[in-house]
Amino acid sequence: MGVNTKVKKTFFCQSCGAQSDKWLGKCNSCNEWNTIVEEVVKKESKNDRLQLFTGNKNPNAKSNSPVLLQDVGLIEYPRLATPGKELSRVLGGGIVPGSLVLFGGEPGIGKSTLMLQLALRLKNLKILYVSGEESEQQIKMRAERIGVTTEMCYILQETNTQNIFQQIVEIQPELVIIDSIQTLHTSYVDSSPGSVSQVRECAAEFLRFAKETNTPVFMIGHITKEGTLAGPKVLEHMVDTVLQFEGDRNHVYRLLRATKNRFGSTNEMGIYEMNGDGLREVSNPSEILITNREQATSGVAISATMEGNRPMLIETQALVSTAAYGTPQRSSTGFDLRRLSMLLAVLEKRCGFRLGVKDVFINIAGGIRVEDPGIDLALVCAILSSNEDMPIPQNVCFAGEVGLTGEIRPVNRIEQRISEAEKLGFDKIIVSSFNLKGINVNSYKIKILNASKMEDVFALIFG
Ligand code: TYD
Ligand code: MG
Repeated sequence: MGVNTKVKKTFFCQSCGAQSDKWLGKCNSCNEWNTIVEEVVKKESKNDRLQLFTGNKNPNAKSNSPVLLQDVGLIEYPRLATPGKELSRVLGGGIVPGSLVLFGGEPGIGKSTLMLQLALRLKNLKILYVSGEESEQQIKMRAERIGVTTEMCYILQETNTQNIFQQIVEIQPELVIIDSIQTLHTSYVDSSPGSVSQVRECAAEFLRFAKETNTPVFMIGHITKEGTLAGPKVLEHMVDTVLQFEGDRNHVYRLLRATKNRFGSTNEMGIYEMNGDGLREVSNPSEILITNREQATSGVAISATMEGNRPMLIETQALVSTAAYGTPQRSSTGFDLRRLSMLLAVLEKRCGFRLGVKDVFINIAGGIRVEDPGIDLALVCAILSSNEDMPIPQNVCFAGEVGLTGEIRPVNRIEQRISEAEKLGFDKIIVSSFNLKGINVNSYKIKILNASKMEDVFALIFG
């Protein structure tokens, strides 16, 4: 440390990033225990400041004056089209210039693969891929697997942000990818890479870089055991977009979602399939999510759901069996367990099915997690089908929410759901009676059946 350097020690909460002057057992901000850690923050003197994007404050920053909203001109920045439709849709229609995107996911899920694929396929753009995790050789090997070649993708193995910015000034890339933010460190903070103050400061430097040069930056971020992005919560506040890559590592399907997006909706979902040669886009998810069976099996029902603006047919599976020991088990993969309990209570109380003594297992095929309430009806039918051991005919699908009184509630975008079911060759779709307003039932080839109560549905399927 130089003569002019003041050393400052601060305590940071590793969970929420809150700062405090002394050590505490419990963080005052997020109430987590044992998360406060001491970190050394080096305060540099003004004259050793690199005139780049690094450091805490820009001493020469001009101050802005207020402008009337009506006088603010609307500038439509052309978005950069991504080579893949899935990523583009999740981002809200391409990459926004100057945007900072945080891309999180569990280790081994395919974050580096997706980003490298993006870098290789964006042909006309100069790209800098900064890797703090893997060597150039390893990245080369991955690029070989993906099998796309490009002349405009630079690989930089470096973890110091000052050095990275020096290279950026030299190369002038049009898109920067950081793999990963937790491996970087800036010379202006003394704590180790991955610590709260490092992650925050490095991200702040890239934020400044993105905004000042209008260059989009993608930062890969690690995920903690609990499934949240590692590092301070402020990281998520800083960036424009937070993308999550999820899926079961044992399944080949990967889901891309935006959990925050300043430039688009957070409802959209992208689906990928991990193959031997990288990630393939799944443009028609319904086909992969429904198993083709020779014979109808009990406990299976198909739901016409919506993921964002995209209709999707999903297979719901249920297994109901007599509880072997004491308390019956309820287990669910891909569906909210509390909502499952509610649906079971409705079936018990309103429809007289004695499921309280049964084990109930739910699975959404393909390792997908569904939040659309329109899946309720299919799920309930799958449960009853398994309970009665009566298969639901394979040409039937469902779209409806189930309310606490056992009524079938309408769902949004019903026409899109019906069209998708028709496209995939279903003969019948069962929807809520309240959904039929304004729909011309005769304009569809598929037969649209409707019900307003759970009891009516059974008659429709089995009756
Ligand atoms: P990776 O992108 O390294 O994951 P992350 O950066 O999120 O940690 O991907 C890791 C896994 O993907 C690894 O187990 C190998 C597998 N993979 C394939 O199956 N096919 C491929 O073409 C590639 C490049 C990786
Ligand atoms: Mg990686």
